[in-house]
Amino acid sequence: MNKTILITGAGTGIGAATAKRLAAGGEIIIHFHASRGAAEAVAGDVRAAGGTAHLVQADLATEAGCREVVAFVTERCGKLDVLVNNAGGLIRRETARELSWQLMQEVFALNTFSTMLMSSLCVPLLERGQQPCIVNVTSIAVRHGAPTATIYGAAKGALDTFTRGLAKELAPTIRVNAIAPGVIETPFHDKVTTPQRLAEFRAATPLRRNGQPEEIAAAIEFAINSLFMTGETLDVNGGLFMR
Ligand SMILES: NC(=O)c1ccc[n+]([C@@H]2O[C@H](COP(=O)([O-])OP(=O)(O)OC[C@H]3O[C@@H](n4cnc5c(N)ncnc54)[C@H](OP(=O)(O)O)[C@@H]3O)[C@@H](O)[C@H]2O)c1
Repeated sequence: MNKTILITGAGTGIGAATAKRLAAGGEIIIHFHASRGAAEAVAGDVRAAGGTAHLVQADLATEAGCREVVAFVTERCGKLDVLVNNAGGLIRRETARELSWQLMQEVFALNTFSTMLMSSLCVPLLERGQQPCIVNVTSIAVRHGAPTATIYGAAKGALDTFTRGLAKELAPTIRVNAIAPGVIETPFHDKVTTPQRLAEFRAATPLRRNGQPEEIAAAIEFAINSLFMTGETLDVNGGLFMR
């Protein structure tokens, strides 16, 4: 894709698959936090596909980290066509009977505050881009509330609402959409979902399997290319949630 694209959390999972899918002819800024080696491998794949790759490390759960990434993009690229707010995670499970203030802060900082601030800081860069857009990665948790991860569900729910408000504020120049993945087989689940629970999700899903990160990358590409779509949330979940 012949665009300048910043993807947060692009060293692993959905972000990595998206970087590779959009690589050909594109200028991809691969943000990572802890996964330096994986991010370097993604950069190699992007270059092998004919794209340009930049790597930037930052903790996006902090204001300083968000500002560092945007300063990097400003200096290196001077503009942005696409921002994919993908970095996020559940951190750990807690039931609603024992919620800790600290976990609430951590989960909202990582999933919600980072996406909100990154979106805001990138507006001037996007205004210099071609057919610019933002794609936020939320979750099926927005639909079902995520029992044992209710903070995460609420943090993604806030992003779902933010997506619509931002889409209205930034129209007609910048489109803003969200992808709400179902259960996708990525490192996301390594520490927070048992193999048995993953099997239960597979059994409960009409398509009888969990998703692959490449299938969410395809939906992100669709949102980028859909020039008459803004303020929308695409549910991509094998039928686990239907409207
Ligand atoms: N997998 C699923 O079933 C599923 C379902 C619904 C929604 N999602 C959402 O999809 C998005 C991508 O997740 P994934 O499934 O691809 O899992 P993943 O491979 O664990 O990706 C999460 C990414 O977030 C980054 N990240 C974590 N903490 C960070 C921090 N403090 N600062 C900056 N970046 C940080 C990680 O970067 P490093 O590895 O470099 O630290 C990682 O690349 C997330 O927003 C997640 O909530 C996933």
